[in-house]
Amino acid sequence: MAASGPEGQETDLQSRSGSYTVAVALVAAVGGLMFGYDIGVIADAQKGIKAAFDLGTFRLEVVVASVLAGSFVGAIVAGRLSDRIGRRWTNVWGGALFAVGCLGCALAVDFWMITAFRVCMGLGVGFSSVAGPLYIAEIAAPWSRGAMVSLYQLAITLGILLAFLIGLVMAEAWRWHFGIGSLMGGGLVIGMLAMPPSPRWLVSKGRTALALGVLRRTTGSVDAAESELKAIEVRVREEAGERLLPTLKSNVAVRRALILAVGLALLQQFSGINAIMFYGPSILEEIGLGGRELLLTASIGLINVLATFIAIWFVDRLGRRVLLLSGTFLMMLAQVGIGVFAFWIPAAGSGGADPVTGASGPGIGALILIFVAIIAFAFSLGPLVWLVISEIFPAGVRSACVGIATAANWTGAFLVALFTLTVLENNSLGTTTVFWLFAGSNVIALVFILTKLPETKGVELERIEEFFSDPVKAGSPAGES
Ligand code: BGC
Repeated sequence: MAASGPEGQETDLQSRSGSYTVAVALVAAVGGLMFGYDIGVIADAQKGIKAAFDLGTFRLEVVVASVLAGSFVGAIVAGRLSDRIGRRWTNVWGGALFAVGCLGCALAVDFWMITAFRVCMGLGVGFSSVAGPLYIAEIAAPWSRGAMVSLYQLAITLGILLAFLIGLVMAEAWRWHFGIGSLMGGGLVIGMLAMPPSPRWLVSKGRTALALGVLRRTTGSVDAAESELKAIEVRVREEAGERLLPTLKSNVAVRRALILAVGLALLQQFSGINAIMFYGPSILEEIGLGGRELLLTASIGLINVLATFIAIWFVDRLGRRVLLLSGTFLMMLAQVGIGVFAFWIPAAGSGGADPVTGASGPGIGALILIFVAIIAFAFSLGPLVWLVISEIFPAGVRSACVGIATAANWTGAFLVALFTLTVLENNSLGTTTVFWLFAGSNVIALVFILTKLPETKGVELERIEEFFSDPVKAGSPAGES
């Protein structure tokens, strides 16, 4: 550990701190890779699984959704665990559970075994979906927190893309898809073991000397580390002994923040993003683009990755509200359009198809709008919901509240996974119905964001609570700071 003292050492610290913080964020983001891989892997693997275990629609939906049930439980447990054993060790356990779950799925012999190990994968992702962003937000400096937490979302999108690409290259070999996933879990375990614990967590455990050492490395300056340590100590002392339920009863700011976080978490899922991520190939077949659906699914994955850079670039410049509102609005418009095109597809299918591509005009129109919807999500609801959730709670109850909001997110994903296929298959206007329902939810999301979300760009974590204690102040964006 670096000792304070000579100037030379200070310069040395500064030159290492930037890359050190990025390295820490990158390792934590391996959890995001796992998260994304876990979502993407099932889109292409489900045909093989269906055939291998002779599954009907409902059992297939159970296999898809079981991972989300595991993630729900994992997220709830991880909130408390992140306080007990720390953010770093919660990530380590997340990686280990995911690796075991993937191996079990790769070797599964029947429906029950694959379902059980999908739950285990989910537990791992649930752990890391809470502890990953939390760890990054607590280690990043205020001015780069938005971009750093968005790295986590970038990793999610890369994980999805990787899964789609593997599906494209070795479509039949679904067992390998899962086997490869276990490498990511192993990577998270090894990477996290090499990283330091979160300084905020260390202070809460009374290990200030160690916290100071970590802060020196992340801030790059002995003075900055000492003043940040003091601020954290004051905050932790104020919050000592805070319990979630009594705090919720007595503190209106925490109550408002929790409503905002849970609302955003649910609305992110009800935006319908995962209908495309989980069932992309089926939806593409429905709109007459069967035959090349794996390639198109991979393109969706790529566009999702690229558009996330828009958020990384703008989030700490334009702020959270502008990106969220514009992206959600664009996604809603695109979904209304997809519904309209999908409405015409059966008719177009009986004669309107392009002789070369085999696709109809409305089918291609729907595809373009699917791309637009993905782009809109990727620079708004995708990264920003995780960012807002990780930054709006005071440290004393942060991990418990992040756990609850993340569990709500997984509940939303579970419901979407469980019912989308049923609506698609049992309704003559399945695709239209699905997309219009999601567009409706996005209208609700717009109103919710407009009325409930304060601007938290550039505000120190320790100060964000103020924006919820006074709604008038909350309405005045923090952009000036
Ligand atoms: C969501 C996931 C989604 C992914 C798509 C994430 O922010 O939480 O459910 O699959 O974005 O990129």
